Amino acid sequence: MTYADDAAVRVENLTKSFGDLVAVDNVSLEAPTGKVLGLLGPNGAGKTTLVRIVTTLLEPDSGNAWINGIDVIKDPQRARMSFGLAGQYPAVDENLTGFENLEMVGRLYRLSRKDARNRAKELLERFDLSDAGDRVAKNYSGGMRRRLDLAASIVSNAPVLLLDEPTTGLDPRTRISLWEHIRELVDGGVTLLLTTQYLEEADELADRIVVIDHGRTIAEGTSTELKAQIGGDVLQMQFHDLETLKSAVTALSGVGAASPHVNESEFTMAIPTSDGVDDLMATVRLMDSHGIKPDDLHIRRPSLDDVFLTLTGEPAEDSEPAEAIEQGAVRR
Ligand SMILES: Nc1ncnc2c1ncn2[C@@H]1O[C@H](COP(=O)(O)OP(=O)(O)OP(=O)(O)O)[C@@H](O)[C@H]1O
Ligand SMILES: [Mg+2]
Repeated sequence: MTYADDAAVRVENLTKSFGDLVAVDNVSLEAPTGKVLGLLGPNGAGKTTLVRIVTTLLEPDSGNAWINGIDVIKDPQRARMSFGLAGQYPAVDENLTGFENLEMVGRLYRLSRKDARNRAKELLERFDLSDAGDRVAKNYSGGMRRRLDLAASIVSNAPVLLLDEPTTGLDPRTRISLWEHIRELVDGGVTLLLTTQYLEEADELADRIVVIDHGRTIAEGTSTELKAQIGGDVLQMQFHDLETLKSAVTALSGVGAASPHVNESEFTMAIPTSDGVDDLMATVRLMDSHGIKPDDLHIRRPSLDDVFLTLTGEPAEDSEPAEAIEQGAVRR
């Protein structure tokens, strides 16, 4: 195939090794025009390597990639005009002000001096950085840098945007405000390929999600489809010791939508559930009738770890602890 029909980003059978390590292993995916594709995976899964290939920064060993129908491997110069990139580590020039950073990017995209300045001003306003526009970027907070980086990635008004872990390391509130900015861009019509370690983030932003691990695609679907695989929400329990945990495992054997994930060294149990409140009530009744008292019991949204446990039978290696949104908690 030489032309990618309706997909703004198309990747076919991409493979890239570093020595013996296969960082991207025969991955295919596509982001339809105007949609958001989430590439979800833990540390070292191969997300950045794939993004670098698609954005012409790295050549694959085999496979193909197109952006808006342009072959990024055969025609990297032309491909570069049709995407914006915010890499995993903000690429702002620390010694320039926010305004100067954006103006410089505009000039690199061959805007006239006047247009570059106007665009910089407009973007500072849009990303709530007007007040900080004259300060050097080295004094920006993490959230401000990410916003500046995001602004820089859209200076050229490219129709396709690639964001590599846009919110990793940000506090929850800053993350939510960045999501709003990202949503605005998508509402404006850009196609987005977004990588993340957080199921919650993919859930919030992506139309479809591709889950990768050790360079390979291990699942694909909408977030509802992925969560259905693990049965919806999770009943999370913490016990005081191994003996209590074991009694609970026995007492609760009939509860939940799938078999529980039991961690004997941390005395925890997580039960996938499709009807959280019913299962929560059954759990409380059963434990009470067996005289078992957990240290903590709550319903939470599934995390990347739960998806991994269910798909691979092992936790997501090296992943940061995923944040759970507690929907209801019962504490002793
Ligand atoms: N230039 C390189 N040379 C050697 N190994 C590399 C290189 N770039 C990446 N790797 C290895 O390839 C694998 C995939 O790395 P990659 O950075 O793509 O993962 P990632 O999913 O982006 O992880 P993270 O969430 O930590 O950013 C890792 O094992 C990494 O150590
Ligand atoms: Mg990365």
